[in-house]
Amino acid sequence: MAQTRLLDNHGRPISYLRLAVTDRCNLRCFYCMPEEGIRYLPKKELLTFEEIERLVRLLASMGISKVRLTGGEPFVRTDLMQLIRAITHIEGIQDVHLTTNGILTGQHVPELKALGIATVNLSMDTLDRERFKMITRRDEFEKTKATLQLFIDHGIPVKINSVVMDGKNIEDILPLVSLTKEQDISVRFIEEMPFNGEGSHYPVLQWTYKRIVEHIRQAYPSLQKIADPTHSTAYHYHIPGHKGNIGVIAAFSRTFCGSCNRIRITAQGVLKTCLYDDGVLNIKELMRSGMNDQELKQYLLKAFLHRPKDGFEAEHNRKTHVVSESMSTIGG
Ligand code: GTP
Ligand code: 5AD
Ligand code: SF4
Repeated sequence: MAQTRLLDNHGRPISYLRLAVTDRCNLRCFYCMPEEGIRYLPKKELLTFEEIERLVRLLASMGISKVRLTGGEPFVRTDLMQLIRAITHIEGIQDVHLTTNGILTGQHVPELKALGIATVNLSMDTLDRERFKMITRRDEFEKTKATLQLFIDHGIPVKINSVVMDGKNIEDILPLVSLTKEQDISVRFIEEMPFNGEGSHYPVLQWTYKRIVEHIRQAYPSLQKIADPTHSTAYHYHIPGHKGNIGVIAAFSRTFCGSCNRIRITAQGVLKTCLYDDGVLNIKELMRSGMNDQELKQYLLKAFLHRPKDGFEAEHNRKTHVVSESMSTIGG
C-alpha cells in the first residue's frame, strides 16, 4: 500500500520516478552523445529486471505513483516488455510512462495500449529526414515517424520532444507546431542542456524558452498561454482551432524546480534527487550487498531529506564540477 505523501526537506512531495533501464542507444543525438568513442556500461553494471522490480515495489510503498522508463533507448534492452508488464502490476503504481526514440517501438504499440501505458514521449527533433540524419547521425527518421502514427492510431497520448538547437533545427519549430493543428498531440520544445558527453556546445544558450515562445508567437499571434498541470516541466500553449497543444521546457533555465516531484535512477543504479546532481546514493551496491528492504528504505529516506532546492544548487554541489555526462545514462 502506498503510504502517506513523502515530502522532501523543502516540503515537496516525491511521487515520480524516472528510471533509465540502459545507457545504450541506437541513435547518436548531437545533444546527448559524442558521435564516436562512447564507452557503454558492461551488462553486469546495469540493474537486473528483478532488481528494478524490487526497487519500484519499495518506492511505491514510499509514495511513488508515477514511473517513467527511459534510457538510452529503453527498447534496446531485450525483453523490455517483460519489465513493463511487471511494473504496470505493482500496487501503488498508477501511471507508467515511456520516453523512446520510436525506432524499435512500433511492434509493441498494441501491447503498450493493452497494458494501459499512460503517455509516450517520442524524441523527434525534426520532420526532415536529412536533418534527422544530421542530428541523430543515423538515417532512421521513417521508423520514428511510423511509430508516431501508430501511437496516434492506437489512441496512446503522445508528446513529441524536440531539443531546440541553434543552426540545427530552428526551421523545424513551425512545422512541428503545425502538427498540433490536425492531431491531438503535445509538441514540446526543450532548451538544450550540456548533458552530451562533452560539455556545453555554446558559451551562452541561444534558444531560451522565452525566445522559442516569441518565435512561435510571431507566426501565430493568437498563441494562448494555458494552464500547466501541477509538477509540469513545460509551459503550455494552445493555438485556437488546433487540436493539440505546445509545451516549452526551460530545462537549462530551470524555472520549474520549486514544484519538482521527481527522482531518478540512472542506468548504473545510482539515485539522483536532481537532474543536475552527480548521484547521491549507489542503490545497486546497497542491494547487491544483501541489504533488506527496511534498511534500504532508511538510506532512501535520508537521501530524500537532503535534496538541493533547485538545479543550480545541485550543480554547485557536484563533485565533478562541469556538467558533461551523457543524457543516455541519466534518462533525461
Ligand atoms: P512528463 O511531464 O511526465 O511528460 O515528463 P517530462 O516532460 O519530464 O518527460 P521527458 O522525459 O519527455 O522530458 C522532457 C525534457 O524535460 C527532457 O529534456 C528532460 O531532460 C527535461 N526534464 C525533465 N525533468 C527535468 C528536471 O527535473 N530538470 C530539468 N532541468 N529538466 C528536466
Ligand atoms: N538537453 C535537453 N534535452 C535533452 N534530451 C536528451 N539530451 C538532452 C539535452 N542535452 C531529451 C530528449 C529526450 C528526453 C528524455 O531528453 O529530447 O526526449
Ligand atoms: Fe538515444 Fe535519446 Fe540520447 Fe538520442 S537522446 S542518443 S535517442 S538516448
